[in-house]
Amino acid sequence: MITISKVGGIALLLAAATPALAQQGDAERGGTSAVVCVACHQADGMGMNIPGGESWPRLAGMNADYLAKQLHDFKSGDRENMTMMPFANMLSDQQIADVAAYYAEMASWPELPTAYHAADPNKEGEWLAERGDWEDSTFIPACNQCHGPNGQGVGTTFPPLAGQHAGYIKNQLNAWREGTRHNDPNELMVGIAKRLSDEQVELIAEYYAELPESLAAADAQEQQEDAK
Ligand code: HEC
Ligand code: HEC
Repeated sequence: MITISKVGGIALLLAAATPALAQQGDAERGGTSAVVCVACHQADGMGMNIPGGESWPRLAGMNADYLAKQLHDFKSGDRENMTMMPFANMLSDQQIADVAAYYAEMASWPELPTAYHAADPNKEGEWLAERGDWEDSTFIPACNQCHGPNGQGVGTTFPPLAGQHAGYIKNQLNAWREGTRHNDPNELMVGIAKRLSDEQVELIAEYYAELPESLAAADAQEQQEDAK
């Protein structure tokens, strides 16, 4: 089993191995480059879910180094995507750092509880996120072991999933399965994505997309019950 501390170690190693990405970005300058991005990622950086189509991911509030890495990956072809490639290609290294800083500063992701709670075995998405899948001999580790409690993301390496668009999450898992995204450090994602069933891809994408709302709803219900 991979523990959070072990994963933290991997993140540190990766950070040390990628000095080029440590380039300082200027958020204000980044706003100029972002003028062309709003068509898809929207003026508030929240993107859009397009069921069955190519969803535009939320960028607002994501880690700047993570965003910069993705733009470099589109440029190098480690992440093959015909829609994003021309927009990434048009940016210099400095512009990448700037536009990443611009989106990173935008809005914060919903703050979700980090305390451990027992996953419900009847909810397959939740179980996969919190416990993984070992029963079917597919050896899928819990997503949250890397993506943090409630999939809120950890540091520069592990992006947040809770509140990201379902269509986008699904497309990324399929991109790893199909080999068009091969940019994951130490191939941390590809093996996992390949071992997921089609049904699990659907369930986990829905689970994370709806998690901030479903946690808020559960919280409200608990408060109502306490008040009785
Ligand atoms: C025509 C629509 C469109 C435009 C314009 C566009 N993007 Fe994208 N962007 C996408 C799509 C679609 C994806 C998902 C690609 C995939 O599935 O791999 C994406 C993905 C990304 C990602 C990866 C996010 C993640 O969570 O890994 C980043 C970063 C990004 N875009 C930044 C930008 C920036 C910066 C600009 C402007 C310079 C821009 N995009 C312009 C459609 C667009
Ligand atoms: C061993 C660590 C690890 C585990 C476990 C893990 N991931 Fe990841 N995941 C990563 C890393 C690292 C990245 C970033 C790859 C990159 O740099 O592009 C990532 C990226 C992603 C992305 C892309 C997000 C974006 O913004 O583009 C999705 C979606 C994702 N993971 C889903 C999952 C799901 C679902 C599970 C559980 C079934 C899972 N991950 C388990 C390490 C992990």
